[in-house]
Amino acid sequence: MTAYVPQHAEELRETARAMVAPGKGVVALDESNATCTKRFEAVGAQSTAETRRQYRQLLITAPEAEKYISGAILFDETIRQSTDDGKTLVKALQERGMIPGIKVDTGAKDMPGGRGEKMTEGLDGLRERLAEYYQMGARFAKWRAVITIGDGIPTIGCYKANAHALARYAALCQEAGIVPMIEPEVLIDGSHSIEHCREVTEQNLRIVFRELAEQEVMLEGTVLKTSMVISGLKAPQRAGVVEVADRTVETLMRCVPPALGGVVFLSGGQGHVESSAHLNAMNQRWADRTPWNMTFSYARALQQPALDIWGPDNSKVAEAQKAFVFRAKMNSLASRGEYSEAHEKAA
Ligand code: G3H
Repeated sequence: MTAYVPQHAEELRETARAMVAPGKGVVALDESNATCTKRFEAVGAQSTAETRRQYRQLLITAPEAEKYISGAILFDETIRQSTDDGKTLVKALQERGMIPGIKVDTGAKDMPGGRGEKMTEGLDGLRERLAEYYQMGARFAKWRAVITIGDGIPTIGCYKANAHALARYAALCQEAGIVPMIEPEVLIDGSHSIEHCREVTEQNLRIVFRELAEQEVMLEGTVLKTSMVISGLKAPQRAGVVEVADRTVETLMRCVPPALGGVVFLSGGQGHVESSAHLNAMNQRWADRTPWNMTFSYARALQQPALDIWGPDNSKVAEAQKAFVFRAKMNSLASRGEYSEAHEKAA
């Protein structure tokens, strides 16, 4: 059988390379309206289409963000919005050399069985939605699957169902000239040990890459967005920075083919300093041995300080922009293994 090569293979390779270019990473601005509302309300901000537009405009237009940020994942509402002077947010990104991306799944829904597992939906009509997003300027697309660690879970059925959907979405993305950013997240919630997280992450990645192979997804034009191998938030003893870095990269090296376009991490509920320290340790200790670049694709760990400043009265735009760009710079340093606590203090 002849290997299937997507029509846009070269464009896909180039986009993936640019997303994980040295010293750069991706900002996730793709919170659904419900999640965004929760985050806004926590800092005293009202959530409307207009306040969400203002906040995301603030981040996208932050001075010097393009030095550290290769691209931004947008939500369907956001990709259709514009800056105060009428330029689409997509154009505002493109003009500064940042790649527009789009979240294309329609959310993680309860699986039958009542065990607390989730299955991500969004395949219906996806080919048509991708064609529209490509026209609008999106060049990569994210799909998030969630795997929960708990009593008797994850089940094999949950791993497989989510991996199959991830692979089908990824193949459709590549057909449309869009790089799939596949996100098979293992949730940090719970009291599990780092070893338990490692086992689940390994199993999850093995199944995901098997499904990608079966759907003939071109790995060079694909980016993996993964959780780190880390202790549960409520674990009685949480592993330290070096252990998180080593267990994470060892697991990736076992399961992720070298051809992959790049690896980015989500922060998943870690604090912002912790997220930078983990990324830094991975690159400091492993970058010379991994076949792919490892960088960030954080939402909360990049945005939280900015949101805290802007939230209460929506007025301190310049200060919030500085706080956002500072976190982007810290993570840029971490993606090169050059970050230290001294950099945080210099702030
Ligand atoms: O899907 C999850 C987001 O893109 C990453 O968000 O860094 O807050 O976990 P997070």
